[in-house]
Amino acid sequence: MQGREGAGGPAGPPRVPAQGAGYPVHRPVLLAEAVASLRPGRGGTFVDATLGLGGHAEGLLLASPRVRVVGIDRDPEALRIARERLARFGDRLVTVEGRHEDLARHLDALGIPRVEGVLADLGVSSMQLDVAGRGFSFRHDGPLDMRMGREGPTAADLVNTLSRNELGRIFREFGEERMADRIAREVVKVRETQPVSTTGEMRELVRRVIGSHREPQKDPATRVFQALRIATNRELVDLERFLDDSIERLSLGSTLTVLSYHSLEDRIVKNVFARHTAGCTCPPSFPVCVCSRRRVMELVGRKPVRASLEEVAGNPRSRSAKMRTIERVAETEESVEVPEGSPPR
Ligand SMILES: C[S@@+](CC[C@H](N)C(=O)[O-])C[C@H]1O[C@@H](n2cnc3c(N)ncnc32)[C@H](O)[C@@H]1O
Repeated sequence: MQGREGAGGPAGPPRVPAQGAGYPVHRPVLLAEAVASLRPGRGGTFVDATLGLGGHAEGLLLASPRVRVVGIDRDPEALRIARERLARFGDRLVTVEGRHEDLARHLDALGIPRVEGVLADLGVSSMQLDVAGRGFSFRHDGPLDMRMGREGPTAADLVNTLSRNELGRIFREFGEERMADRIAREVVKVRETQPVSTTGEMRELVRRVIGSHREPQKDPATRVFQALRIATNRELVDLERFLDDSIERLSLGSTLTVLSYHSLEDRIVKNVFARHTAGCTCPPSFPVCVCSRRRVMELVGRKPVRASLEEVAGNPRSRSAKMRTIERVAETEESVEVPEGSPPR
């Protein structure tokens, strides 16, 4: 087993035990479906772009002794735990601390030009949500941090420094929060007296504006916390580039599988997949294809795969998951010679 760029350390997130009583385990969502979609039986090198605690990577490594996994995560604590948990696979697991948006750079550094599959299980892990010191959840009072990695401003930094307009935009766009502007106004009012520094303070602030009865099944702070998490970790920035780069690196017959947990992510995945599966670009009015662009990628299944009722009952996090897969069916989209008199499209 090999690690790059180190893991853990004084500036990293709080340490948690890798295993043991009471420790919250991350249950991988759509595990069997995600592993099967990557077809690991062929062996080869697979990228788990969101290694987390290594649940999906473990599934891949168990599927065939000829599978090697490059596991990327920006969270040094997750990497440390995954390495401990998966130590039995030896050097079949290579871990990389970094952002998956830099996939091309990571693979180049490892000397890996093409891979047999890429998996991305987007968002946060249960471990990150459950450790109060990480500041992701309104369920546990802790510092309003929310950083998955060690770098960059915390959620509290954003809340206490951004303008009212910018905060309103974040709550509206990343949380789809209807009362975004009123919440932003309240933030600016509160921080004139004292900075907002804990998850508990932020939750109370949102509750004061929204009240507690809007959506009975949902804490009123849910959308604002999602928005702050996305903004703090720049989650949607460069997601498109990551998907494009992953597709670029797939060998023939290999797949990219993405699990997303909210509509903003899923929309980006859907649009990128549609762009790559467009094939012929002739206007629909042309009776025959003149561009002769070959389809390089194909969708595997038209609709996203969802968790079964049984899985949702055992793991509520899986309720919102949508899994989409795309497969490389040709090496390049270089034009194919169209013989004269070819049949209409
Ligand atoms: C849903 S969890 C993955 C869980 C994993 N599939 C498992 O079975 O344990 C998502 C992980 O992706 C990581 N992550 C999120 N965004 C990332 C990014 N842009 N680059 C690298 N890692 C990221 C998070 O730190 C988290 O550990």
